Amino acid sequence: MEKEDVVDELIQKVAEAVPHISSGLMHRREYVGEENPSDEKMMEADVWANEFFKEKITSIEGVGQFASEEEHEVTDCGEGLSVAIDPLDGSSNIPTNNLVGTIVGIYDGVLPCSGEDLVAAFYILYGPLTTVTVARNGQVDEYVVEESSGDEVNLYLASEDVEIEGKKTYGFGGNKSWFESFEELEEEFSDEFKLRYGGSLVGDFNQMLHHGGVFGYPAKEGYDNGKYRILFEGNPMAFIAETAGSASSNGDRSVLDVQVDDIHQRTPFFAGHPDMVERIEERAL
Ligand code: AHG
Ligand code: MN
Ligand code: MN
Repeated sequence: MEKEDVVDELIQKVAEAVPHISSGLMHRREYVGEENPSDEKMMEADVWANEFFKEKITSIEGVGQFASEEEHEVTDCGEGLSVAIDPLDGSSNIPTNNLVGTIVGIYDGVLPCSGEDLVAAFYILYGPLTTVTVARNGQVDEYVVEESSGDEVNLYLASEDVEIEGKKTYGFGGNKSWFESFEELEEEFSDEFKLRYGGSLVGDFNQMLHHGGVFGYPAKEGYDNGKYRILFEGNPMAFIAETAGSASSNGDRSVLDVQVDDIHQRTPFFAGHPDMVERIEERAL
């Protein structure tokens, strides 16, 4: 299959899983007592969603590798593009019915690889509307997922060629252990912009994408490389931000320029209006 067709198939197959994932969250809101490769507690929903997506993605012709936030190793599954997934982002929001998402990075390279090798990236946002936001071929488009008969879903184009405009909102995660220099910067931003923070990368990024502004999760005490995993979270979201005409940064340079040596490598992460990202970089946090 042509790479473009593999990307199409990946988006369709992951979107088809949406109704199943949404209905499956209800009875899987407990922690399972195990930790993922990033030493974080796993919810039953994390484990289940990972298995569900893995089976769908590895069975697609033209997908050669599968890596997940929830699995220690890369799975080889044939020849072709490499897929890195955060099956449920913000899963700690599930018990309180706040926004959660799924993040998918599609790389043309052997994992782990840098964001320069991304050919497409998309996220699912499970909210009042369930949407798929896709960055590919230099454009970001947002679709609404509508269930139809059986396993079929229809993707309705809600927003075409989304561009990040304006500097309305800001939000930064991990506030309990920020370094003092970052606390000072956040103070300045709180005087100038509207705070929007909901505890899931996908939900908070999506607000920034549509309102205009900046979102991030900086390095903090005990997490010199921040919290987000670059392969499953940082790179795909940076690719979407930069495709939407805005900027991404690890505090020093574009997230997509960072060399990735380990599949669970973390990165400080900022994305949004270039002026706001530049102010963060100038502070050399
Ligand atoms: P995940 O559920 O995939 O581990 O991701 C959670 C991430 C991200 O979605 C969110 O922005 C951040 O963790 C929240 O971290 P804190 O709980 O430290 O604020
Ligand atoms: Mn996540
Ligand atoms: Mn996750």
